[in-house]
Amino acid sequence: MPKAIRIHENGGPEVLKYEEVEVGSPGEGQVLIRQTAIGLNFIDIYYRTGLYPAPGGLPFIPGGEAAGVVEAVGPNVSGFEPGDRVAHAAGTGSYAEKRLIAADRLVKLPQNISDQQAAGMMLKGMTAEYLLLRTFKVKPGDTVLYHAAAGGVGLILGQWAKHLGATVIGTASSAEKIELAKAHGFDHVINYRDTDFVAAVREITGGKMCDVVYDSVGKDTYLGSLDCLRPMGMFVTFGQSSGAIPPFNTGLLAQKGSLFMTRPTLFTYIAKREDLEKSAAALFDVVGRGIVKININQTYALKDAGKAQADLESRRTTGTTVLLP
Ligand SMILES: NC(=O)c1ccc[n+]([C@@H]2O[C@H](COP(=O)([O-])OP(=O)(O)OC[C@H]3O[C@@H](n4cnc5c(N)ncnc54)[C@H](OP(=O)(O)O)[C@@H]3O)[C@@H](O)[C@H]2O)c1
Repeated sequence: MPKAIRIHENGGPEVLKYEEVEVGSPGEGQVLIRQTAIGLNFIDIYYRTGLYPAPGGLPFIPGGEAAGVVEAVGPNVSGFEPGDRVAHAAGTGSYAEKRLIAADRLVKLPQNISDQQAAGMMLKGMTAEYLLLRTFKVKPGDTVLYHAAAGGVGLILGQWAKHLGATVIGTASSAEKIELAKAHGFDHVINYRDTDFVAAVREITGGKMCDVVYDSVGKDTYLGSLDCLRPMGMFVTFGQSSGAIPPFNTGLLAQKGSLFMTRPTLFTYIAKREDLEKSAAALFDVVGRGIVKININQTYALKDAGKAQADLESRRTTGTTVLLP
């Protein structure tokens, strides 16, 4: 039987159990995939701890993105056949050697994208796509602030935002991460561990502040993020690596300059098949043309997913991390 990582109870990395699982054959509209590489994402930690409830309850297989090869297709599947190289960004179910998935959620991989690149970029790269092109349409001359610039989404978004003509400001917690972010599109990177990032943004922008702030750090940064915006700027809160943002009075948005605020998730932005196809195509285009480089900075065996999550959680990883079945 194929192996997978399964979670029977919420908790720390130790609840990730490597075990044999029954996969079965594909049902109506489904495809069976042999997975060759699996992406690691911070959202996997939210599902593990229970911050986000797993869609089908416990036990469940975590994992939000992967690449592989189609082994079998179920009834009423068109467009895919055994042998196709494919990738996906689904909520859970990817920490597995084999999995079933709705064909509607799959995209075919172009020749010039490797399995490991695809596994490490589908969720993170389509997130960068919708944040930069749809949640707020970044245009030449805009100033963008992104926290945790050396992270998985960060290194992709930095390169893409630079290509769109923005001035890209980032934050990161160490000198090494700052250098890495600067090599991936960020014009300025502030060490937010030892520097007041609001004051630094004010100095960099000559007091104009930012058109948009993308904040996935949450609790530790959200108030400062609001102060980094120009009047009527856009605050995009899309994650909580440091903890959830506490409830606050929306009057704060008025006081700080009639700000806009949104709390988006990728799954809304790719819910329609046509949006998934467009988002993946835009990502394959910028990666294929070398505008966005996807470097795999860490790999772990699938059975060591607990160690991989512990490293991500304790800020020891940079960029993209891939688990290998
Ligand atoms: N809403 C969506 O559609 C969506 C989609 C994808 C990802 N996300 C969110 O985007 C964020 C980035 O995801 P990712 O997978 O690419 O992770 P990541 O950025 O590689 O890792 C998280 C980073 O957050 C920073 N951080 C700050 N305070 C932290 C703390 N107390 N504990 C841990 N990390 C802390 C760390 O960078 P420093 O050491 O430099 O501070 C860390 O490396 C996550 O919050 C994720 O949930 C949201």
